[in-house]
Amino acid sequence: MRTYILLVVVLILAVGLTACGGGGGAQQQPAPAAGQAPAVKGNPEKGKQLFAQTVLAGNAGCITCHSLEPGKVLVGPSMAGIASRAGNTVPGQSAEEYLRISIVDTNAYLAKGCNVNAPEEPCAANLMPADWAQKLTPEQIDDLVAYLLTLK
Ligand code: HEC
Repeated sequence: MRTYILLVVVLILAVGLTACGGGGGAQQQPAPAAGQAPAVKGNPEKGKQLFAQTVLAGNAGCITCHSLEPGKVLVGPSMAGIASRAGNTVPGQSAEEYLRISIVDTNAYLAKGCNVNAPEEPCAANLMPADWAQKLTPEQIDDLVAYLLTLK
C-alpha cells in the first residue's frame, strides 16, 4: 500500500513538472502572430483611474502635474495627444517604449512642453517623481502606458 501511494505521488509530481514545461518557461508568453501589432498588456480603463488620482502610491498623482487639455501646463507637459507624438520623440523608441521609460526612468529623456512661452525648451529634470518603478506594480505601469496610448 505504501509503495502504491508513493508511486502515485511520484506520478503526480512527474505530470506536474511536465505540465510546467520544465523548459525554462521560454514558451510562457507566445510571441504575437506575424503581422499583428504587439499586444499592449495593460488595461487602459484601470490606467485612466490611476492617472486621475491626485495622490498615487504616496506621490503626487499624474493629474496634478499633467493636464489632459491641449497646451495646458500644470507642472509637466499636457498629455493631450501624447499617443500620437510619443513614437516620434526618441529615435528608435516606439510610443509604448517611450511612455514606459518616461514613467520609470523620468530623467532618461527630458520632454519639452513645460513652458508655454518656449514650447521647444526641455523641461527641468527631477520634477517628476523618479520612484514610480518602486511605488507602482508592473501591472499598474502597464495600465498607465495602455491608457496614455489611447490619448491620440
Ligand atoms: C510633480 C509633477 C509630476 C508628476 C506627479 C508626474 N509627472 Fe510626468 N512629467 C513631469 C515633468 C516635469 C515632465 C517633463 C520632464 C521629464 O521628461 O521628465 C514629465 C514627463 C512625463 C512624460 C513625458 C511627456 C512627453 O510629453 O513626452 C510622461 C509620459 C509622463 N510624465 C507621465 C507621467 C505619469 C503617468 C505620471 C503618474 C504616474 C506622472 N507623469 C507624474 C512632472 C510630473
